[in-house]
Amino acid sequence: MNRSAVARLSAAWLSSFVGLSLLVGCGPSKLEYRPNDLHAASLTREGSDQDPRAVAKKTSALIEQWFGTLDEPKWPAETLGADLEAVRMDSVSRCAGPVGRGVDKVERGVFRKHCVSCHGLTGDGLGAAAMLVEPYPRDFRRGTFKFKSTPVGKKPTRQDIHRTLYEGIPGTAMPSFRAIDESKEFAHDIDDLVEYVRFLAIRGEVERRVMAAYVREGVELDPDSGRLKELLAQVVQKWAASESDAIEIPEPPAYISSAAGDLAIGIDGIDNGQHVELMKKGQSLFESELTACVKCHGKTGAGDGASQDYDEWTKDWTILAGIDPKQSKDWKEMKPFGALKPVLAKPRNFHWGAYHGGKSPSEIFKRIVLGIEGTPMPPVARAQNGNPGLSDEELWELVYYVMHLEERS
Ligand code: HEC
Ligand code: HEC
Repeated sequence: MNRSAVARLSAAWLSSFVGLSLLVGCGPSKLEYRPNDLHAASLTREGSDQDPRAVAKKTSALIEQWFGTLDEPKWPAETLGADLEAVRMDSVSRCAGPVGRGVDKVERGVFRKHCVSCHGLTGDGLGAAAMLVEPYPRDFRRGTFKFKSTPVGKKPTRQDIHRTLYEGIPGTAMPSFRAIDESKEFAHDIDDLVEYVRFLAIRGEVERRVMAAYVREGVELDPDSGRLKELLAQVVQKWAASESDAIEIPEPPAYISSAAGDLAIGIDGIDNGQHVELMKKGQSLFESELTACVKCHGKTGAGDGASQDYDEWTKDWTILAGIDPKQSKDWKEMKPFGALKPVLAKPRNFHWGAYHGGKSPSEIFKRIVLGIEGTPMPPVARAQNGNPGLSDEELWELVYYVMHLEERS
């Protein structure tokens, strides 16, 4: 797809945003970051008599003092101290604000141009197109990301988010923005967008934590509160450390072609006998009790295992708030606060071969070893530092097996 095709596509999304937002009523009348009503509704369900919308609004006012407004975002440098820089604010400013060029001729509003139709202005995943796609567009405010090279509980690296924007997420509505990256004029945009995603995720997670401290611990919503400053610093620290949290991926063995996506058998000197042998080993690991892959992905890898569950974004406002996501009369109570119909986080069907986080052997290795955070997909036990689990050799056999479940004609 060339650049103008991308521009047309995003223009189409943008006009659907403007059109649809009137219909579904989720377009804010005045453009500002949307308070997190849904989280407030979940928190106050636990025996608090506070009005969720008032809680969300009050929290939002504090967050604005730290992170600024939609058109003029800022960084809480005075509160954090100079050494805690987790985002590049010049990039953030370029992505925020209305679409167009400023007096300095620099293009602004890059996020609004390309992303809001799905992710919403606030990064809450409530863009106009949200309910039309599955999985839903990501709500960045939880600070949880799926396709990364860091362990569960750690933040993605810049390179991880860059990869997502460059490649898109095949098998979902998340498009590839490769064409922008490859154009001269907009070459910076992807790097800038990475910073803005980090900014929205930090802003959103701080908002959630501050709100929880307010509702559960009764902490005053005062920007000088020591407890709240501590929460702010904790979130920022995790992002500041993300680059060094990435794990090292060992070289794939010669029998796996390291050329991304090239599954041809017969190259790298492998013959059919070796192929059959590797498939057998991979299959027995896949079907073993230790890995439990079958439990979710099913015996043949069709994604039809016995265990089917929801993701953490859904559990946050359902199970954790005492709501049964399967009962529509229950979850519909949360709809006015921005809840979308709960859908199961389906285990991948390997026969389709659409790897959401990239189909190179190294990416698949990462998914298996690190799990897919925010979803039921757990990290596999890896033999390391004396802990029992799969050796790297076995892990590659598993990767090989899974990759060859794709049905090709
Ligand atoms: C047409 C809808 C759509 C548009 C436009 C879109 N996204 Fe997404 N995006 C999605 C969906 C859907 C997901 C969730 C996929 C999943 O959960 O597997 C997603 C997920 C993501 C993720 C999470 C990746 C991870 O590892 O968890 C990031 C980051 C992201 N999008 C950034 C962006 C940015 C930045 C833009 C604009 C340049 C953008 N998206 C435009 C639909 C969209
Ligand atoms: C408890 C359920 C569960 C178990 C156990 C499980 N998975 Fe998954 N797996 C999932 C879910 C759910 C997804 C889809 C996550 C998403 O993208 O939202 C997934 C996705 C994947 C993907 C797709 C990655 C991508 O980029 O699209 C691979 C590969 C995978 N699993 C391999 C395995 C292997 C190998 C095992 C055993 C070691 C395993 N899984 C065990 C639930 C599970």
